[in-house]
Amino acid sequence: MTTVLTLSGSPSPDSRSTFLVSTVAARLHDLGIDNRSLDVRDIPAHDLLHARFDSPAIVDLVNEVQRADAIVIGTPIYKAAYSGVLKALLDVLPQTAFHDKLILPVATGGSPAHFLAVDYALKPVLSALGARHILSTLFATEAQLVRNADRGYVFADEVRTRLDDAVEQLMQGVVGKARQAGNMRSNIRNNAPGTVAGNMRSAGPFERPRTRAAAGA
Ligand SMILES: Cc1cc2nc3c(=O)[nH]c(=O)nc-3n(C[C@H](O)[C@H](O)[C@H](O)COP(=O)(O)O)c2cc1C
Repeated sequence: MTTVLTLSGSPSPDSRSTFLVSTVAARLHDLGIDNRSLDVRDIPAHDLLHARFDSPAIVDLVNEVQRADAIVIGTPIYKAAYSGVLKALLDVLPQTAFHDKLILPVATGGSPAHFLAVDYALKPVLSALGARHILSTLFATEAQLVRNADRGYVFADEVRTRLDDAVEQLMQGVVGKARQAGNMRSNIRNNAPGTVAGNMRSAGPFERPRTRAAAGA
């Protein structure tokens, strides 16, 4: 069974990047893809700071990463790079943790000025962890994610389009990967409506997958 893990790497309780990651997760769920989520804020800080490889939270994290076929990694842009807490999390993973994983980076920044930070700062680290399939970054600025009355965020139109593209790329990647591995579920193999392959098929190769709009999307 195909599984996607979302990792949120912001220390902020009202994180925009986490919201964007959660929206990707909701879309994947609607498309029939199992996904699990982990937030760096839920890992005890002393486990990360002391690199306690044997702590239950870090053992869980490593197991979740191992189980996943694809990983959505969210980060705020901090000081022209990705967040320090995300680095602390990446540092406790095994050296080849991302080997064979499809990766979708998701980032939010104060402005577009440091849009490339994911390319020059995060992607080399993902590569060092064995990632060979890294999708284009889903990026939004603060102005493109406006807080609404429910303490969620509303996307600017261009972010919605980029979100659709990112989900489509990820779906094509995980479906292709599963087909290659020959471990497709029978309902996917049958392209039945309501299944991953069925939804991909009904969306057509050049259309966006039809999904229930995620909260705020
Ligand atoms: C400590 C700190 C450093 C930041 N550095 C940058 C920066 O270098 N470039 C930038 O575009 N935004 C910067 N920002 C703005 C954040 O990237 C922006 O608010 C982002 O949406 C936060 O994401 P989050 O809500 O997921 O934490 C910084 C914010 C903080 C708190």
